[in-house]
Amino acid sequence: MDQTELGLRYRFAQGVVREAGQIALERYRRRDSLTIERKGRQDFVSEADKACEEFVVGALLKAFPADAFLGEEGGAQNAGGEATWIIDPIDGTTNFIAGIPVWCVSLGLVIGGKSVLGIIYNPVTEEFYAAQEGEGAFLNGKRIRVSSAQKLDEARMHLGFSYRRPIQEHVSSVTACLEASCEYARFGSGALGMAFAADGRFDGYYEAHINAWDVAAGIVIASEAGASINDFFAGGGISKGNPILCCTPALAPQLREIAGIS
Ligand code: IPD
Repeated sequence: MDQTELGLRYRFAQGVVREAGQIALERYRRRDSLTIERKGRQDFVSEADKACEEFVVGALLKAFPADAFLGEEGGAQNAGGEATWIIDPIDGTTNFIAGIPVWCVSLGLVIGGKSVLGIIYNPVTEEFYAAQEGEGAFLNGKRIRVSSAQKLDEARMHLGFSYRRPIQEHVSSVTACLEASCEYARFGSGALGMAFAADGRFDGYYEAHINAWDVAAGIVIASEAGASINDFFAGGGISKGNPILCCTPALAPQLREIAGIS
């Protein structure tokens, strides 16, 4: 896809995500009245997730009918197209339902196993992250960079977890962080976790297994902000997920060793 086509998608997608954020925000404000279903262990979907995804896919499909789509709630459409939009309509659904303002709309575009466009929007805090490969990463229009953290004993990691992986694995990564005197937190939104690593609020994000819709946008945002990131899309990551390790370049060798990631 040439730069003109990509630029067109970048601009259009930002408008779509802003609107999707308002759809989600309206429902967040009346969250007690929403229908919520349980998908698995600590895994929920609300009618807001569905409405938001339907809106994003509908708008993009109308503008770019040949593009492929992969959404957390709707599965795949036009599979096999050159470019695949990857959508998490609400990342941090548990927070959304509980009224904790740590959730976002996340939209990424993947071409040839690379994340080339990413948009992450938290309409509660009005924080809008966007990046296009080669063009830098921005938060509300201002360029962002990863932190300058050099050593783990001065760093703060965001450690994600889901019941898709054994509990002990997460406990071991928390232990390894603490043993290295590294601070850690878990906020319940992988997409925002990546965004916070991109703008230096955290020095990195690690999760032993995460799905493509949680990180497709965050990968290009963090990478354009100067982060070191593993090849998440290798070996079928787009369809079955993979581990993710995103951090400042100086921390990468140590963290890779701890996480067992090459
Ligand atoms: C989850 C969140 C969580 C991460 C999980 C994801 P959801 O996504 O991003 O922080 O640790 O791996 O499944 O269910 O809130 O969209």
